[in-house]
Amino acid sequence: MSKDTLTITDNRTGKEYELPIENDTIKATDLRQIKVNDDDFGMMSYDPAFGNTASCKSKVTFIDGENGILRYRGYPIEQLAEKSSFLEVAYLLIHGELPTKTELENWEHDITHHTYINESIKKLMDGYRYDAHPMGMLLGTVGALSTFYPNAKDIFDKDVQNIEIRRLIAKMPTIAAFSYRHMMGLPFVYPDNDLSYAGNFLNMMFKMTEAKYEPNPAIERAIDVLFILHADHEQNCSASAMRNVGSSHPDPYSATAAAIAALYGPLHGGANEAVLEMLAEIGSKDRIPQFIERAKKGEFRLMGFGHRVYKAYDPRAKIIKDIAHDVFEVTGVNPYLEIALELEKIALEDEYFVKRRLYPNVDFYSGLIYQSMGLPTSMFTVLFAIARTSGWLAQWLEFLNDPESRIARPRQVYLGEDERKYVPMNKRK
Ligand code: CMC
Repeated sequence: MSKDTLTITDNRTGKEYELPIENDTIKATDLRQIKVNDDDFGMMSYDPAFGNTASCKSKVTFIDGENGILRYRGYPIEQLAEKSSFLEVAYLLIHGELPTKTELENWEHDITHHTYINESIKKLMDGYRYDAHPMGMLLGTVGALSTFYPNAKDIFDKDVQNIEIRRLIAKMPTIAAFSYRHMMGLPFVYPDNDLSYAGNFLNMMFKMTEAKYEPNPAIERAIDVLFILHADHEQNCSASAMRNVGSSHPDPYSATAAAIAALYGPLHGGANEAVLEMLAEIGSKDRIPQFIERAKKGEFRLMGFGHRVYKAYDPRAKIIKDIAHDVFEVTGVNPYLEIALELEKIALEDEYFVKRRLYPNVDFYSGLIYQSMGLPTSMFTVLFAIARTSGWLAQWLEFLNDPESRIARPRQVYLGEDERKYVPMNKRK
C-alpha cells in the first residue's frame, strides 16, 4: 500500500527514519532527528540559492517552467494580458480574486488619489547627483518614504496594510518618473488624475510644454501589458528579499526598498538594460556567431537568455514579441530588432543553448520596446519595479497572514577554523 512518507536509511548508523511527505515536500527540520550520536546537531539540507527548497506555501503565482506556463491566482498570463488592465491584475494579486466593477472603480480611484508625493520627498530627490542611476534614486526614495509614514510600522493593522499598499502602488510611477526627469535635468511633472495608470506615467515622463498630455493609445496599452507581464513571478530573488526582509517586520517601504535593491542586479531585473548594451556591442548581424562563441566559452552570458525556472520559452517573452510590433508601428522599428531576432534564431539552433534549455526570457524583447518609446536603458529596470511592486506586496501580505511564517534565518555549513588561540599583533605573519 502506498504511503505519503519517505524512508531514509542513514548508512553511517544503519538507522531508518520515516518522514511525512506533504505537497511533494519533506520538512527540512524533520531531517534534524537524523544523528550519529545524541550530541549531534542533526542533519540539515544544503541548498545554496534555494535551487530545490520551497521557502513558503503560496497561492499567488503558479509557474510550470517545463511547459512555459505562468498564472496569477490561477488565471493564465495570456488571458490577463489580453483582457485585463494592470490595476485589475494588481487587485487580483493582492486580493486573490478579480474585482467586480465597483471594486475596480474604488481601487482605481484610491490608487489615482495617492499618486502625489510629499513636497519634501521631491526636494530629497532634487538632492541626488545630476547623473544618478534612476534605480538608485527609486531605491533610496522608497526607503525614505518610511520616514514620512511612521504609522506604516503597524503592519498587522488591516487599515494600515490597505492604505500603505495603495500608497506604494500609486507612488511608484511618480517616483520613477521624477527619477527620470531629474536625470534628464527636466522639471518634475505632477500626476494627472484624468489619465490611466500607464497614461499618467507617460505624462509624468514625457510631458513638455503642452497644456494637457495625451498618451498614444498603442503605447499606453503596451506599457499596461508590460506592467501586467512583470507584476509577479513567485519566489524570485526580489520577492524572496521582500519576504526575508519583511520577516523581521519592518514597514512595507523598507521591505520594498530591499526588493528594489534585489531587482537592480543584472542577473535579475537589470538584465533588460544589459540586453540593449549587449545588442549595441554586437552592432551588426555578421558579428553574432563570434559573440555566441564567446558566450559559449563562458566569457560572458547572453543577456536575456536562460532562466532558473523556465526550461521552455518564457510565456512572457512570447507576448512581448507580439506587442513589439504594435509599438514599432507607432515608433518605427528598433534598429536592434534585426540583431535580436537573428541572435535568438542562431542561439535556439545551437547545441550549447539547446542542451541547457536556454530560451529568451522576459527581458530579451522588453528593452527593445522601451528603447523605441524613447526611454534610456537605465529606466528599463525601473519600469519592471513599478509593475513588480504589486507582486511584492501580495507576497508580503501572504507572508504576514501565514501562521507558519517566522523571521528568515538560514543555516550554514561552517567550514572555518576550529577554536584557536588569539595571536597578538607582534606575532602575526
Ligand atoms: N548565456 C550563456 N550561458 C548560460 C546563460 C546565458 N544567458 N544562462 C545560463 N547559462 C549556462 C551556464 O553557464 C550553465 O552552463 P554549465 O552547466 O556548462 O555550467 C548552465 O547554462 C546553467 O546555468 P546556471 O547558472 O546554473 O543557471 P541559473 O538558473 O543559476 O541562472 C540566470 C539563471 C537567469 C541567472 C541565467 O540564465 C543568466 O545569468 N541569464 C542571463 C541574465 C538574464 O537574462 N537574467 C534575466 C532573468 S529573467 C528576469 C528575472 O527573473 O529577473
